[in-house]
Amino acid sequence: MNVVLTYNLKKKDATKPADYFSEFDSEETVNAIASALKSRGHTIDCVDVERKDIISYFRNNRIDMVFNIAEGTRGRFRESEIPAILDYLNIPYTGSGTFSLAVALNKALTKKILRAENIPTPLFQLFIKGNEKLNADLKFPLIVKPNYEGSAKGINSSNVVHDPAELYKKAQEIIGLYNQGVLIEEFIEGKELTVGILENGIPAILPILEIDFSSCTKSGEYFYSWRMKEYQGDSEQGLTPTFHCPARLDKETEKLVKDTALRTHRAIGCQDMSRTDIRLNKDNVPYVLEINPLPGLNPKESNFPLMVNAAGIKYDEMIEAVLMSAYQRRKLRHG
Ligand SMILES: Nc1ncnc2c1ncn2[C@@H]1O[C@H](COP(=O)(O)OP(=O)(O)O)[C@@H](O)[C@H]1O
Ligand SMILES: [Mg+2]
Repeated sequence: MNVVLTYNLKKKDATKPADYFSEFDSEETVNAIASALKSRGHTIDCVDVERKDIISYFRNNRIDMVFNIAEGTRGRFRESEIPAILDYLNIPYTGSGTFSLAVALNKALTKKILRAENIPTPLFQLFIKGNEKLNADLKFPLIVKPNYEGSAKGINSSNVVHDPAELYKKAQEIIGLYNQGVLIEEFIEGKELTVGILENGIPAILPILEIDFSSCTKSGEYFYSWRMKEYQGDSEQGLTPTFHCPARLDKETEKLVKDTALRTHRAIGCQDMSRTDIRLNKDNVPYVLEINPLPGLNPKESNFPLMVNAAGIKYDEMIEAVLMSAYQRRKLRHG
């Protein structure tokens, strides 16, 4: 197949905020996907979607499939930018479609859908102005997050708030920095889990990954904060979570968590792959925090490849499975 790999590349630019490029992909990730595709005999062209002539590039080349990992740059529909262009040009692409990518980037909207499907998600409220009256049913401690970000952008230990004064201060700060709605959510104490789904004909639920922050005393951050993700493994700063894959769960809880992730994947209409972030409370209720239709694919650092590896699937096989899953869909759609 003639495959085009589309991405936004991480760059160095001191004029941008420290977390500006956090969502974007490294050369290491791009090269790993490209070499996986090459090893399967595909012809591959790597395209940073920030190039000015992106639309004419798509128009003027023979493309069988776009392998899309582009996070996009423009606002609340950014992950849908490239899929929307490809839909318009009738070029098939891997991964979730325009609509699911837009929904999943909106955490509050995703949670409304989960609630309608009876999938547990922490109680929440969306602040737009930052001075709204707090719903009486929300119980402190709460966590305050930008509604349209990923990679834990704007999230650190001070986002867990214990009283209204802390809450309003943090909400205003996020609105100022990120210029978007703020999600206020009950903070779920308990195990941090993430569940990968890889479709290859049928959706395979990968072994659950448990991320244990109990040894991160030096950083004082006991959840997946921005610093924890950005500098993961830095022992000087105490950013060294312990990964358990499969997670340390009894059989019944494991089944419940996997089932919850699959229902989430289906409720949001995800395709080919996804990663659902979950917190398990003390009564073993899996609360879904969000779903990531474009999970990080860094072969050394990202959670998704770690789970793929634990399933006994090689990185190259996973990339080929995603490609083939998308290809099958195209054949089905076009008869
Ligand atoms: N309601 C919550 N209860 C407990 N921890 C949370 C909650 N919301 C977020 N977190 C912590 O913050 C991390 C990032 O939040 P998440 O909603 O997954 O945003 P992102 O899209 O930036 O990954 C989570 O992995 C978890 O460690
Ligand atoms: Mg997350």
